[in-house]
Amino acid sequence: MTPSSEAGEGAEAPVLDPEALVSEAGALVETVTTVGALDEVRTHLLGKRSGLARAHQGLVTLAPEERPEAGRRLNEARRAIEALLADRRRRLERDERARLLRAEQLDLTEVLTPRLRGRLHLVQRTRDELEDVFVGMGFVVAEGPEAETDWYNFEALHMPPAHPARGMWDTLYLDLGDPETVLLRTHTSPVQIHMMENQGPPIYAVMPGKCYRRDTPDARHIPTFHQIEGLVVDRGISFADLAGTIESFTTAYFGPDIHSRLRPSYFPFTEPSAEFEITCTICKGEGCRTCSQTGWIELGGCGMVDPAVFAAVGLDSEVWTGFAFGFGIDRCTQMRHEIPDMRVFYDNDARVLRQI
Ligand code: PHE
Repeated sequence: MTPSSEAGEGAEAPVLDPEALVSEAGALVETVTTVGALDEVRTHLLGKRSGLARAHQGLVTLAPEERPEAGRRLNEARRAIEALLADRRRRLERDERARLLRAEQLDLTEVLTPRLRGRLHLVQRTRDELEDVFVGMGFVVAEGPEAETDWYNFEALHMPPAHPARGMWDTLYLDLGDPETVLLRTHTSPVQIHMMENQGPPIYAVMPGKCYRRDTPDARHIPTFHQIEGLVVDRGISFADLAGTIESFTTAYFGPDIHSRLRPSYFPFTEPSAEFEITCTICKGEGCRTCSQTGWIELGGCGMVDPAVFAAVGLDSEVWTGFAFGFGIDRCTQMRHEIPDMRVFYDNDARVLRQI
C-alpha cells in the first residue's frame, strides 16, 4: 500500500520513533495531486487503523513512567501530520483555483470582427416602398421582360422605324434575329403594351423594372437604371385623374411638404404629354444649386394614352381612355435621400452601402 503502512506494525517501533511517522507522512502527502485524494490519505495517516493509532495503542506496553513522554511525542507527531495535510491542502486548492481560472479565462481585449448582416439595396427598398404606395392607392404590380422586340419598345408606342423620337433613347440592340429587332428595353413603357394585350381594361397597374440606355454615367444618369411605369385604362379617365394620382403619390412617398406639378412636354405615346416635377427635396422649394434655383426637380414623364397606342393593341379609343406615367426609381431614391451622385449606388463601396 503506502510507505507508512509498515510503520505501525508491532508495538515498539512507532512509539519509539514518531518522527519517522511524520517524515513518512510528509513524503506521502507530497505524492497526492488532488484534494479528494488527500482526504483518503488523511484517513490513512490519522484514522483508527493508522500507524499513529497503533502506536497510541502500543503505549500500554511501555513502563508507566515512560508513557507521558511517549504520549506527548505522539501527540506532537499528530499535530505535525495535521499541519502537513493542511499545508498540502492549501497548496492543492490554490493550484486547482489557478487551473480553473486559466480554463475559464475571458480575454476582454480580443477584437472580433462583427458578424456581417446583409440588407436590401436602397434602390430595391425604394422600389418596394413605391409599390406599397401604389398598392395602397388600388394599383396592381406587374412586370415585363427586359429584352424586348422593336415592336414593344417603339412601334406599338407610336414610334415607327426611323421615327425621330427614337433618338430620345440611346438604345442597346441585342445580337438576336434580324439586325436591330431585339433590344434591351429603354423604358418600362413596353409593359403598358403587354398589359393591354394580355388583360385588357380596366387596368390600374404599376410596372417596375430595369431599363438600359447607352448613356455615359454621370451624377444623374446610369446606363442600367430602374423605372416604374403606371397605366390606368378605364372609361372616362381624365387628365385631372392623372394630376391627382401624381400628387397623391408624391405626398405619400416624399411627405406632406413635397408637391408635384406638370409641365407640357412631348412623348409619342401620350397626348397631351407632360413632364412631372416635384418640390426640390434639398431646399424644399426655396431654390438651390441642385434644382438650378427653380425649387423643382424633374422626376418623370406622363400623359393621356395616345389613341394610336390603343389602336396598336386593338382597343377602341372612343370607349377607353387612360393615362400613363413613368419615372426613375434611382432618381427617386436620390431625391428622397438627398444623395448628390447617383453612381454611389453601384460603386459597390461597402462603406456607402452600409450607411444607406
Ligand atoms: N417612358 C418615358 C421615358 O422613359 C416616360 C413616360 C412614361 C412618359 C409614360 C409618358 C408616359 O422617358
